Amino acid sequence: DAAEKAGYEHYMRKEIHEQPTALRQTLSGRVDVDRARVDLDVSFPEALLERIEEVQIVACGTSYYAGRYAARLIESFADVRTTVEIASEYAFGAGRDPDRTLTIAVTQSGETADTLGAIRRADSAGARTLAVTNTLGSSVTRAVDDAVFIRAGPEIGVAATKTFASQVTTLALLAVALGRERGTLSASRARSVLENLRGLPGAVQQALDAEADVVAAAEQYRDEDAFFFLGRDLGVPVALEGALKLKEIAYDHAEGFPAGELKHGPLALVTDRTPVLAVLTEGGSPAETMTNVTEAQTRGADAIGCVSADREFGTLDVAFEVPDVGLLEPLVANVYFQLFAYHVANEKSRAIDKPRNLAKSVTVE
Ligand code: G6P
Repeated sequence: DAAEKAGYEHYMRKEIHEQPTALRQTLSGRVDVDRARVDLDVSFPEALLERIEEVQIVACGTSYYAGRYAARLIESFADVRTTVEIASEYAFGAGRDPDRTLTIAVTQSGETADTLGAIRRADSAGARTLAVTNTLGSSVTRAVDDAVFIRAGPEIGVAATKTFASQVTTLALLAVALGRERGTLSASRARSVLENLRGLPGAVQQALDAEADVVAAAEQYRDEDAFFFLGRDLGVPVALEGALKLKEIAYDHAEGFPAGELKHGPLALVTDRTPVLAVLTEGGSPAETMTNVTEAQTRGADAIGCVSADREFGTLDVAFEVPDVGLLEPLVANVYFQLFAYHVANEKSRAIDKPRNLAKSVTVE
């Protein structure tokens, strides 16, 4: 057991630190920057991609948040309506044409019963189905038309970490591929996204190298009443995922919100004992988000922000720097949130790799 953790106290911290390697594996051999091409080795039926009117993503937990991140990229690059549904709530709804629908199951394990149920409903309705998974030979791969592997390597900690990064990265590659195939993404924009993807492992490494700053923040804020995570655009799924990590492993009350919603209710909960953690990077409308952070600070809350390297928000109580990787910057902010959750939980001596009441893979509906 100790040997498998390679000197780390918990699998979760090991897996957080494995992210640069996992991401290199995810990207390996799939990106041709010069030709602005992506090869995911999926062969869709002739003209399916030109024909599709909707991409549906079905998933649970952390995979659902990866889907939310990806949906924005798919809409932006491939100009196709993309919906994301919690798998247990999914139905192939009225008015949809199955011949023009691509349904994607995002599932690390490939065994989550709710996700399998949803993708089978899509399949029965006649939609084209695709799995994005970490697990070769898993049940989901047998339930779909095509599968793409995220190649993150085995993840043991119950709380998903490196698989989230690899899922978003794989789906970002798919978004570029769809955009190129549909003629909606220019070669120059595709190249710049692919350059950013190539820079992602190094950017994540820089965040990991700043872990000592996150430890200090975790020590400072470990005993607060609740934690509110804020983001806009691509920062929203990261805010939701950041809150989920803290709930799962620290057992602290944490909630994520689209930052603009703060004033429509959650602000009533803000006190000087509820720090806010915000995504203030490219892809996350940083200036607008900061306005909402300031609203919380006015009510006495401290603010911790993940900020793009070329920006500064002088009024933050704690700032974590995110290197320039364009629309992938919120994904680097997520690494800071993973470390924050880990170190708050560690300060409290929680059972980090096996939190109470939770399972790595939930095989009942
Ligand atoms: C469980 C795990 C979560 C995971 C979710 C979906 O709830 O505890 O970490 O995000 O299942 O798992 P999947 O394998 O489908 O991605």
